[in-house]
Amino acid sequence: MIQELTWNRKDLLTIEELSREEIDTIHALATQFKTTLGRSQKKLPTLRGKTIINLFIEPSTRTRIAFEIAAKRLSADVTLVEKAASSLVKGESLRDTAQVVEALNADMIIIRHSAAGSPAYLSQIVDIPVINAGDGAHEHPTQALLDTFTMREKLGHDLSGKKVTILGDILFSRVARSNVWALLKLGAEVTLAGPNTLVPKQFEELGVTVEYNLKKALADADVVMLLRIQHERQTSSHFPSLGEYKALYGLNRERAAWLKPEAIIMHPGPVNRGVELDSSLADGERSVILEQVTNGIVNRMAVLYLCASAANQTSETAI
Ligand code: CP
Repeated sequence: MIQELTWNRKDLLTIEELSREEIDTIHALATQFKTTLGRSQKKLPTLRGKTIINLFIEPSTRTRIAFEIAAKRLSADVTLVEKAASSLVKGESLRDTAQVVEALNADMIIIRHSAAGSPAYLSQIVDIPVINAGDGAHEHPTQALLDTFTMREKLGHDLSGKKVTILGDILFSRVARSNVWALLKLGAEVTLAGPNTLVPKQFEELGVTVEYNLKKALADADVVMLLRIQHERQTSSHFPSLGEYKALYGLNRERAAWLKPEAIIMHPGPVNRGVELDSSLADGERSVILEQVTNGIVNRMAVLYLCASAANQTSETAI
């Protein structure tokens, strides 16, 4: 059990607003929860009697399922609300939907939405905790938490000076934004790479390096994180075709040879196999993609526990 937790937030909205100590607290708690994954009886009583609403207004596989499993492992009851099966399609507003959820006695809302800022907006409307599960091209905080947790497992707890290259569609990526904030707070050095239409030089104002030479971007990386092209957020074409993207920026065996032998390959998913990443690499021994997915459960358990505790001032222990 962790003795001291640096956390007094009701909501998790962004990584940008978190301190290094808050990220460390989530990771320390996730490490504790990870010891429970191998048990035959995996459930903990921590959130027994709590009701959590998974409000997914945009499609998701791993985030939605991992949040649901995380909540159930903590003994909460979970209800999924998806756009197509809700009154949102009849024109009900997000504000009214959130107020209905709160009136139905929910204890927490997890929201994925295509509109940047929608979790922050909801957090001002309802008194219960709001967790951001990805808002437009803004942030995906729990993805960055599980990604940096996985890096710490693979490279060592101290990420200071470790070199992380994020390659792909940075402009439209909430995963990239949250990871940049998390990695910089943890002391890592971040390089953003890809076509200049998707990786504007202005990103350097965040404290990262923008590199258009792919060989240079890969050569000294400890981690390369691939991102898919996010068509759903692009209003115009930012490069001629997926075939040309693959030819110029796709990570294949030949380009992977530019990496250090011990460098790991990450991807938040979903992977467009054969475009940003060859299948042989996605399934290869350097890939930690499925470990990222598993770590999504324990990092989300930590976030649910901490936000519920802050909301309730509960004295219950985590494990
Ligand atoms: N990485 C991620 O957010 O994947 P999903 O869209 O499947 O949740």
